[in-house]
Amino acid sequence: MTNQCEVLPQLREAYKDYFMIGAAVNKWSIEAEASLLTEHYNSLTAENEMKFERLHPQEQQYDFEVPDKMIAFTKEHGMSMRGHTLVWHNQTPAWVFQGDSGHPADPQTLLMRMKSHIHTVAGRYAGQLYAWDVVNEAVSDKEEEFLRPSPWLDILGESFIARAFEYAHEADPKAQLFYNDYNECVPEKREKIYKLVKSLKERGAPIHGVGLQAHWNLDFPSTDDIRRAIERYASLDMLLHVTELDVSMFAHDDTRTDLTAPTEAMLEKQAERYTQIFSLFKEYSAHIKSVTFWGVSDRYTWLDGFPVRGRKNWPFVFDVEQQPKQSFWNLIDVARS
Ligand code: GLA
Repeated sequence: MTNQCEVLPQLREAYKDYFMIGAAVNKWSIEAEASLLTEHYNSLTAENEMKFERLHPQEQQYDFEVPDKMIAFTKEHGMSMRGHTLVWHNQTPAWVFQGDSGHPADPQTLLMRMKSHIHTVAGRYAGQLYAWDVVNEAVSDKEEEFLRPSPWLDILGESFIARAFEYAHEADPKAQLFYNDYNECVPEKREKIYKLVKSLKERGAPIHGVGLQAHWNLDFPSTDDIRRAIERYASLDMLLHVTELDVSMFAHDDTRTDLTAPTEAMLEKQAERYTQIFSLFKEYSAHIKSVTFWGVSDRYTWLDGFPVRGRKNWPFVFDVEQQPKQSFWNLIDVARS
């Protein structure tokens, strides 16, 4: 029987020979979950606070207050931080893509804005972040479509991706630069991500890694597909970071809204799933250097609002009371096995 005073093994310590253990944080969780964070995690990612719309809402206005505090917190506690994210089709303000009199920005203007944003942001934090998700989610989920339509692509063409990596490298030459995406283990999309990263490498773009977002659930994706994705990306001699891990209790087509707590069966299945997933990560730890959960404990997850608004989810290894779940103990067992 565990009681609150008993000292728990620390996740970060258990995995110290394999990879860093990270959590996505926001203004609330960095205070409310500070003790869990400092005990178990050694890498932080800002959930939203380093995105374009938050840092740079108007062309002449930057706001660094919250990320500055997050970085100070990591320094105070001997943690590291990943930067997320510089170029994305979402959470980017409309002004970025606007030109004169209602027309879209011309390519030169947009490229200049992108460069200035990356130089300012990555330059400010140069040497303080160990990695950046430079480009997020540029690959399409649709069959027969390689890159996702977006104003970046429409105005600048495919080269916007390579340019973003070049600017990030100029601004922070020591940071490891990542391409980050979801559905990264789905075979069709995996091949497109592979193709993109390979072509960036061949062009000499300064890309060092692939970020596997890992928004997964109790059944999806299969461990075989996870293994194949890891091997495929690693074959490009890329570092791998698992950047946004959560294991949702609900399959994609499960729209139940009646549960107020996870069932025993769900908790058991999730724990088994965490064992499988972390066994794989450990097996490939020569490539995987960082594993970040997209939150801290089940008290808060973005999945409480997505894809079913207002439906509680319990995707992490600490419960709503911030206590370890069976999933936590399974992770400790995997690390020690
Ligand atoms: C994507 C983004 C993250 C976050 C999640 C949802 O995965 O990369 O920054 O917005 O969606 O929380």
